[in-house]
Amino acid sequence: MKVIAIVSAKGGVGKTTLTANLATALQREGVGTLLVVDMDPQNALGLHFGADPRSLAGVSRASLAGQEWGSVCVQSPSGVYVLPYGVVNESDRMAFERHLDAHPNWLTQQLQGLELPPDAVVVVDTPPGPSVYMQQALSAAQVVVVVSLPDAASYASLALMQRLVHTYCTPRPDFSETLYVLNQADGARQLSKDITRVMQDNLGERLVGVIHEDQAVREALAYDQSVLEYDPQGQAADDLLKCARVLAQRLRLPRAGATR
Ligand SMILES: Nc1ncnc2c1ncn2[C@@H]1O[C@H](COP(=O)(O)OP(=O)(O)O)[C@@H](O)[C@H]1O
Ligand SMILES: [Mg+2]
Repeated sequence: MKVIAIVSAKGGVGKTTLTANLATALQREGVGTLLVVDMDPQNALGLHFGADPRSLAGVSRASLAGQEWGSVCVQSPSGVYVLPYGVVNESDRMAFERHLDAHPNWLTQQLQGLELPPDAVVVVDTPPGPSVYMQQALSAAQVVVVVSLPDAASYASLALMQRLVHTYCTPRPDFSETLYVLNQADGARQLSKDITRVMQDNLGERLVGVIHEDQAVREALAYDQSVLEYDPQGQAADDLLKCARVLAQRLRLPRAGATR
């Protein structure tokens, strides 16, 4: 099992979009069992897989009730298994967060308890910035994918993410590496082109994908679909598939039918 944490210091950069669409793209590439886990109280990840946003079931409520995670896991039509955060009231959310705070390796243990096949890949979505959720995801991850926009504020916030990775990941022998994805790149804007170039120069092969700004990404969500289903020939779908292939190669994920 490999755990990938999708993180960023800033919000609205496309973490949830990338968690859902990269998992779908990895599934297409024939990478074992794919599970996505929503560790963000916004509970938005399920929407990308057609889940009902009013559904109470999810990791938060299940954990508070001592229920097995398997009972709240749903398989999407694309084959990706989805564990939503679920809907909880404020006092339950706070109780859940206190539990996470008191048990820093809770997510790691829950994932181990699922007894997924060895080739399984788990992609964890997180809220922006430091939180108990991000700490849990970083503590469970072998690979961290930092999502950034091609703007100065996003670029400047990469240092904060590097410090958090250094705190929660680097000391662990099972931690592998930090990778980066630049999202909403726009070839018509000079600043976007400049920051893309700076990131390519500074990060080299650790920049595993550049996903372009594409209206189809927003539309796909409105139709409860992945971008790959909604606009398979579009720019974003092409970028996402390329990124998934680079990620699969970089993580040495076994792919069904792939020549190795
Ligand atoms: N490549 C893209 N092109 C166009 N819109 C995008 C792209 N990536 C994300 N978005 C949109 O940006 C908004 C924020 O994305 P989201 O995944 O919710 O960010 P986060 O999880 O980091 O807060 C959403 O409306 C989403 O549809
Ligand atoms: Mg999000």
